[in-house]
Amino acid sequence: MKVLIIGSGGREHALVSAVSENSSVEKVFCATGNGGTHRESKCENIDITKIDELLSFALEHRIDITIVGSEELLVQGIVDKFKENGLKILGPSQKAARLEGSKAYSKEFMKKYGIKTAAYEVFDHAEIAIEYLRKCEYPIVIKADGLAAGKGVVICEDFTSAKNSINDFMILDIFKGSGKKIIIEEFLEGVEASILSITDGNIILPFISSKDHKQIFDENKGPNTGGMGAIAPNPYCTSEVLEEFQKHILEPTLVGIQEEKMDYKGIIFFGIMITQKGVYLIEYNARLGDPETQAVLPLMKSDFTELVISALEGDLVNFDLKWNAGHSCCVIAASKGYPGRYDTGFEISQLSKLQGKLFLAGAKEEKGNLKTAGGRVLGITAFGDTLEQAREIAYADMKKIHFQGMYYRTDIGKVN
Ligand code: AMP
Ligand code: GLY
Repeated sequence: MKVLIIGSGGREHALVSAVSENSSVEKVFCATGNGGTHRESKCENIDITKIDELLSFALEHRIDITIVGSEELLVQGIVDKFKENGLKILGPSQKAARLEGSKAYSKEFMKKYGIKTAAYEVFDHAEIAIEYLRKCEYPIVIKADGLAAGKGVVICEDFTSAKNSINDFMILDIFKGSGKKIIIEEFLEGVEASILSITDGNIILPFISSKDHKQIFDENKGPNTGGMGAIAPNPYCTSEVLEEFQKHILEPTLVGIQEEKMDYKGIIFFGIMITQKGVYLIEYNARLGDPETQAVLPLMKSDFTELVISALEGDLVNFDLKWNAGHSCCVIAASKGYPGRYDTGFEISQLSKLQGKLFLAGAKEEKGNLKTAGGRVLGITAFGDTLEQAREIAYADMKKIHFQGMYYRTDIGKVN
């Protein structure tokens, strides 16, 4: 079997690694990949990014399965294009990908199917939005409707900052069209969890829960990033929380997917908030999370490629998805300055053998050496019988890695 993975982050390194474990997979291509995927024995990086080029490549190389890492191509309709050409690809159709691609659409979907979510209003005129803000209770959440590379959500503490955000989103158009329409949403206080899942349109099969750490600094301070670390399972996802999630979020989502006749054979990722008033859905993503994937996939006991095939065949109901016992902790090391401006090109060295798994992200191979090439450079996922053990190993491993300006949080997986 030949598999094509699309993307270049730590998530894609974890995907290449998981897919390579299947003995029927003889070759994996990663577009564009990174220094880590380059080092995987079955994998070859290919330097193409556009849907048409990827399609030609997949046809020419007779790719059996394609897995799309990030959301942009899903929202642009890569799944429809590949399917029209007889190729198997994991992901939602363009129509279904609106669950991630348009927050106004996904909130409307949640409302229609009775899925518990924060109260909200949609606006496409700045003046009307600002009038509305005058009578809101604060804090309030403002979201760009479209994709904004993880930067389209701001939590505003008062009217002035909310008004400034409306100005940035709608008038200054900082997200190039994605913020012309906005959502103003009730602020939810609680603990977040990420539930990655797979669906074949008949059932949604949730993975073990996980927890991202979005802010750059310890104690959840500073600006949001793509994610500075993740743990699995999420200690706040008790059986009561998971039951509530199943009943009030997962099940009505499946009903919605079916009633809207969405063609959805792919990943569906639920971002939830566990509050005093119950479990709320914050958002859907149509793809795996980064760095949640690096924490979750290595704990999967079942074969990931077989799971993907089962979803593509519409046979998930017969798939016995099994997990290893224990905990994982993935700590991300970033370039100094991230998520703002940062320098790249520094050599990455490893002083001794790691106990955990190294997943590279913004790192490339240059003449046999690894160099930094992005904001989030790498992650180490460690495992333990307890979360505390997994954390200790991950942090001991981090001390064995060095690059100039290396920064990581010291409290990933610390439970208060
Ligand atoms: P999203 O892109 O919708 O996941 O939002 C990014 C982040 O903003 C989430 O992971 C939360 O941390 C935060 N957030 C989004 N919506 C809310 C909300 N209604 N209340 C509190 N925090 C939120
Ligand atoms: N780590 C959150 C995301 O991938 O959206």
